[in-house]
Amino acid sequence: MADSSSKSSSSLSTNPSSTIVRTRTNSWPFTILLSLLVPVTIAVLVYQLDSFDPAPFPIHDLTHQKPMVVPRRNPRMLHGSEEIGVGQLLGPEDVAYDPKSGMIYTGCVDGWVKRVTVNQSAAETVVENWVNTGGRPLGIVLGHHDEVVIADADKGLLKVAEDGVTELLTDEAEGLKFRLTDAVDIANDGMMYFTDASYKYSFHEFVWDFFEGRPHGRLMRYDPTTQHTTVLVRDLYFANGVVISPDQNLVVFCETPMRRCKKYYLRGEREGSVDMFIDNLPGLPDNIRYDGEGHYWIAFSTEETYIWSVAQRYPFIRKVMAIMEKYVGRPHVEKNAGVLAVDLQGNPIAHYFDPRLSLISSGIKIKDHLYCGSIANSYILRLNLTRHPAVVGA
Ligand SMILES: *[C@@H]1O[C@H](CO)[C@@H](O)[C@H](O)[C@H]1NC(C)=O
Ligand SMILES: *[C@@H]1O[C@H](CO)[C@@H](O)[C@H](O)[C@H]1NC(C)=O
Repeated sequence: MADSSSKSSSSLSTNPSSTIVRTRTNSWPFTILLSLLVPVTIAVLVYQLDSFDPAPFPIHDLTHQKPMVVPRRNPRMLHGSEEIGVGQLLGPEDVAYDPKSGMIYTGCVDGWVKRVTVNQSAAETVVENWVNTGGRPLGIVLGHHDEVVIADADKGLLKVAEDGVTELLTDEAEGLKFRLTDAVDIANDGMMYFTDASYKYSFHEFVWDFFEGRPHGRLMRYDPTTQHTTVLVRDLYFANGVVISPDQNLVVFCETPMRRCKKYYLRGEREGSVDMFIDNLPGLPDNIRYDGEGHYWIAFSTEETYIWSVAQRYPFIRKVMAIMEKYVGRPHVEKNAGVLAVDLQGNPIAHYFDPRLSLISSGIKIKDHLYCGSIANSYILRLNLTRHPAVVGA
């Protein structure tokens, strides 16, 4: 290469190759144009050919107020936090605590529901493979008879008895199969409240639900006595975390891309209707859990990134992102994941997060500690809230 180019430049005026060199020089603007035109044309063609058709999000529903002000914050929650069960807990999405045995239950990406015996020393955590669902266990909650109920993204709503025997409770409602059973909670009367995030996209395709911008999610109730599944609320945007209020009057549920949680009234004058519980959240909500001490804990997979706020407004940007997802891949933009504590009225109380943290999917408080699950980490994160509290003015 170097030889031929030095030869052609040294013999510019005498050699016939000089014409070629001159032509090349003159063609530069054309080459630049061509090199721009080709990828742009391909991009336009791919865009035109691709049948994916995103819809506008109901942006008017989103309160475009100033960012939420949370009275107390710990914006560096990774400082002082510990990793539990490193390498043995792959994508522990939701976390449930059994105060009787002192064990934590969590569902992993390899289908294993694991039992974790935590210790004062993080290094002495004991992890046990308990039951493999053969699917993707997400939401997890303890029942009233020592059973564990699991929202398995691939399988549906599952019950695992104390001896490990697994039973499918439900995987469809109103003739529509669940594609992404996501979260579950059990009321004192035994009724199970759960979400299917999407009847269209599976767990592995969840980002497509965000790109498409149509409400494929449902909040449902399973009655273990009649074995009947009732749809309570339909047309939800990626219906995610579910929690029953301690007075048993409400079910609170999250809609991830809309950055809000709503409440469904289970009794009283407003029975069967839906109101806002908290909106304009400082992140995309995943699971919500009650701590038994007056606070719900809402986990965020990421703060609202600039790219997502723009994409949400313009369907064509989501279409470009979808095409990129198919042919190129997705950039990693998630940051400032964490957990927000809110009171029973939906007022924000304390926000724990970190710029280096992404894809946190659940947070529960056990005694001194906040335990966080994640769909991406290979451990559960633990933070001593007494030692590292959220403070005013942080
Ligand atoms: C857990 O902690 C206790 C002390 O708090 C200790 O006695 C025990 O051996 C620890 N380790 C395991 C694996 O249980
Ligand atoms: C949490 O931190 C407090 C304050 O430093 C300490 O007293 C307590 O023992 C810690 N809790 C645990 C379970 O390590």
